[in-house]
Amino acid sequence: MASSSALPPAAASAAPSAPSPSGGGSAGPWLIEIRGLHKTYFMEGVDVKALKGIDLTIAAGEFACIMGASGSGKSTMMNILGCLDRPTRGQYFLAGQDVSTLSNDELAEVRNKRIGFVFQGFNLLTRTSALENVEMPMVYAGVPAAERHRRAMAALAAVGLAGREHHYSNQLSGGQQQRVAIARALVNQPSLILADEPTGNLDSRSSIEIMGIFQDLNAKGITIVLITHEPDISRFARRRILLKDGRLISDAPITDRLDAAEELANLPRDPEHEEE
Ligand SMILES: Nc1ncnc2c1ncn2[C@@H]1O[C@H](COP(=O)(O)OP(=O)(O)OP(=O)(O)O)[C@@H](O)[C@H]1O
Ligand SMILES: [Mg+2]
Repeated sequence: MASSSALPPAAASAAPSAPSPSGGGSAGPWLIEIRGLHKTYFMEGVDVKALKGIDLTIAAGEFACIMGASGSGKSTMMNILGCLDRPTRGQYFLAGQDVSTLSNDELAEVRNKRIGFVFQGFNLLTRTSALENVEMPMVYAGVPAAERHRRAMAALAAVGLAGREHHYSNQLSGGQQQRVAIARALVNQPSLILADEPTGNLDSRSSIEIMGIFQDLNAKGITIVLITHEPDISRFARRRILLKDGRLISDAPITDRLDAAEELANLPRDPEHEEE
């Protein structure tokens, strides 16, 4: 984790300075504020009520995880938090801005500016180098080539991948691919990282390494919202939110939090994972 120059400044600066205009008298500074959120998927003949009235606030600098059984609405919630989808009813304020009613273009702009995504399946372009994968979001953001290169190199170094910049995705381990995905999520300097089962395809050591990267980023002030099925993984976060059948049924600080660096130090050495 050498350079941190690709990382955003403390995310606290992204929080709204005034209370959000929700009309409910809520006092920010929430990075995320959702009120009475419903999402219904309208299918032929059946309506699927995936979210049934969620209220949730997350402050800048938090590290929250969302848990719940399959089908409980986690990804639906993540898609809305990530401005990839709109609620059917209710409001979503991101850094004080009501994003529930934005057009697709406006949502895309908010997404590019504020949010980095990490998914279970890495979603890297194949036959494309780690460096090019990380540069990609900056191409869309119109960042000049030299600056793209500089920021991508720094982001890859920040996730421990210096020296692997020219490897193709298929020449990297799962854990390394996920690091490339995290570097890619960081280059536009988001204040919020959303991760949907980021360790779902990884062995336990790589999973802890990835959680270590998230803990480091969080320590630098980036807000993280992570979905996981795994209770052990949730312990690297600071707050656990539980969904059941589209409703939020519990929300509590994590009292038995794990430190990824400590956990890694306690793992038996594994020569297959040694970096040269
Ligand atoms: N695009 C869609 N169209 C119709 N129904 C959907 C759609 N996406 C999700 N659903 C339904 O909404 C509900 C919530 O799904 P969601 O994907 O949010 O669950 P999840 O908690 O992420 O589950 P998993 O742990 O399996 O990923 C489920 O009943 C699902 O079948
Ligand atoms: Mg899901």
